[in-house]
Amino acid sequence: MQIETIRFDRDKVFIIDQTYLPNKFSYIELNSLDDVVSAIKNLKVRGAPAIGITAAYGFYVHAKQLTQTRSLTKESILEAVERLENCRPTAKNLSWAVRRMYDSFLSNQNKPAPALLDILKQAAIEIHDEDRLACSKIGAYGNAFIEDGSNVLTHCNAGILATGGIGTALAPVYTAFAEGKKLHVYVDETRPVGQGARLTYWELEQHNIPCTLITDNMAGFFMGRGKIDLICVGADRIVSNGDVANKIGTYSLAVLADYHKIPFYVLAPLSTFDLSLSEGSEIPIENRAQDEITDLWNIDKGLNYKAENPAFDVTPHNLISAIITDKGIIHKPCPESVSKFFYNIT
Ligand code: MRU
Repeated sequence: MQIETIRFDRDKVFIIDQTYLPNKFSYIELNSLDDVVSAIKNLKVRGAPAIGITAAYGFYVHAKQLTQTRSLTKESILEAVERLENCRPTAKNLSWAVRRMYDSFLSNQNKPAPALLDILKQAAIEIHDEDRLACSKIGAYGNAFIEDGSNVLTHCNAGILATGGIGTALAPVYTAFAEGKKLHVYVDETRPVGQGARLTYWELEQHNIPCTLITDNMAGFFMGRGKIDLICVGADRIVSNGDVANKIGTYSLAVLADYHKIPFYVLAPLSTFDLSLSEGSEIPIENRAQDEITDLWNIDKGLNYKAENPAFDVTPHNLISAIITDKGIIHKPCPESVSKFFYNIT
């Protein structure tokens, strides 16, 4: 099955509604700014690059609607920018994409409306196309770390469903598999939302890639038994010293990997980097509703349980073997290696 997470077709934006996966595969149209904001907040579309791309198309759809009522102004579009950016605070790709659209608006705002809209449409398509290409490049760089017969452990969903292409953490898996390497993926279920169980397992199975679902607290057991050769995860934000925010549970995996001497790789495009922050403690961490936890167990609301639900955690750079990007690899990330990498690529 061809999985296209975000589809822009005849001037309309469609996404797979991921809240129904794996039981139902269906597209919904995002027809307005409200639709886009609600889809991102409610995880109908999720994963750092995918929410950035969706927001970019949402910017265009909204600008088009504002033009129809002659209310496309710097003020009205800035209001939309802020709403989009604030949907989810942790993933850098979201504000990166929205600000890029806004810059494009600012540079062309004096043009006639049809020309301006065309520029905004092309800007959103470009963000989507660039991400598709970035995923393929990450796949090619990451493939070098996957030996024939490898067992890979992954967390959350950093595959096709999280991006505009073949994923970040899963890109090397798809690339290696297409090349004929034998491999097997252990998929963490990823509580509380279950992106591993519902999304990663499903998309790997669609591609006939051998995989096994485990609960998050089984990872150490399999590492201790020598069943895991490498760990590949995505990222929501990477800061200048190489610290990485990713789905809650990533940090625990990195500590376990360090103890068991298993290589721990983070894979992400450049749009995930935030060099304005110097260390991971500065990254805003999204706190989600406690119902996501209590509803897992059908706990009666009347019992008034209290739960904490941080959606992301921060893995310190010293626990990361390498960050694999679309422009190359940062080995043993640290403040010096990250700045040297950016100096060399720009
Ligand atoms: O809450 P989610 O599902 O948006 O979290 C997604 C992740 O944490 C991914 O690992 C990350 O965005 C990288 S996706 C290529």
